[in-house]
Amino acid sequence: MDTVRTEVISVRPAWAVTGYARYLAAKTTVDDRALNRQVLAELRRLMPAGTPRVLEVGAGLGTMAARLLDWGIISAGEYVLLDADRQLLDCSLRWLRDWAAARGVRSDLLPDGLQVGDLRVRLVHAELAGYLEVAHGEPADVLIANAVLDLVDVPAVLPGLLRQLVPGGVYWFTINYDGETIFEPGHPLDDQIMQAYHCDMDERIRFGRPAGESRTGRLLFHQLRDAGAPALAAGSSDWVVHATPDGNYLADEAYFLRSILATIRGALRHRPDRVEPADLADWLAERYRQLAAGDLVYIAHQLDFVGRSAH
Ligand SMILES: C[S@@+](CC[C@H](N)C(=O)[O-])C[C@H]1O[C@@H](n2cnc3c(N)ncnc32)[C@H](O)[C@@H]1O
Repeated sequence: MDTVRTEVISVRPAWAVTGYARYLAAKTTVDDRALNRQVLAELRRLMPAGTPRVLEVGAGLGTMAARLLDWGIISAGEYVLLDADRQLLDCSLRWLRDWAAARGVRSDLLPDGLQVGDLRVRLVHAELAGYLEVAHGEPADVLIANAVLDLVDVPAVLPGLLRQLVPGGVYWFTINYDGETIFEPGHPLDDQIMQAYHCDMDERIRFGRPAGESRTGRLLFHQLRDAGAPALAAGSSDWVVHATPDGNYLADEAYFLRSILATIRGALRHRPDRVEPADLADWLAERYRQLAAGDLVYIAHQLDFVGRSAH
């Protein structure tokens, strides 16, 4: 087996929140609305008391750690942010410090992360599948993946992921894309573009491994059961983004929508076999125009799951 490159990030000044980091920050309010409340209530019920060890994979900026503190689901313990993107982890320090300062919560830099109130946040820079190939000390009490499992090869990584948990440990897998994207007003090219976009997801390779499945949500029901960890609760967590009556999008959600359109463009612009470049350009121009006018509505169907590891 190859040596797995896993390193603890050294603390250095974070950058301004731009690019992908800004997209993840903008996504926060969209996720806040979307996360399934029944599944969340079950997570709250299952959450170990005291100072749990939480591992979040594909954690990005660390917005979920902040949300769980805000929502009173965690207050103390250790929270590991694991991500393959070193720049994002660097940004997470600044983002979490700003978040804590805005709430009057004390935060202090640590050699490998950040103390936020009573929560010790540790940053781990690693690619997930590689990380799972080697043992990593104490297992976690809680395992979280938000908007991540549709970016990895779930059948390949799920058993290793669940092995990161103590016996009976809790998983919460949320915002798992499930094959349906809707833009309103409708456009004659919508079906062709979405089909092509889903094909791109299904064929995506990252870090030399299959990295995506457009029907991740629905497949997880049986994948979790087959891994011996059937869901105790599941429910939809659709993203629904629209302008307010004054024609503006909430918070930074116009940027979120621009990022979604840019992602679709990035996936399809070199695939004239799937969508004619002129058609893609027309479709995008119309969507950007609707966005500027506050007319664009975006809905993405997703599913959340909570349960316990069996072993
Ligand atoms: C859509 S973002 C979600 C980030 C965060 N969970 C959130 O909801 O804001 C997906 C994250 O997963 C990370 N990621 C994707 N594939 C990964 C892999 N194979 N190993 C580790 N991280 C990965 C990306 O770097 C990115 O930060």
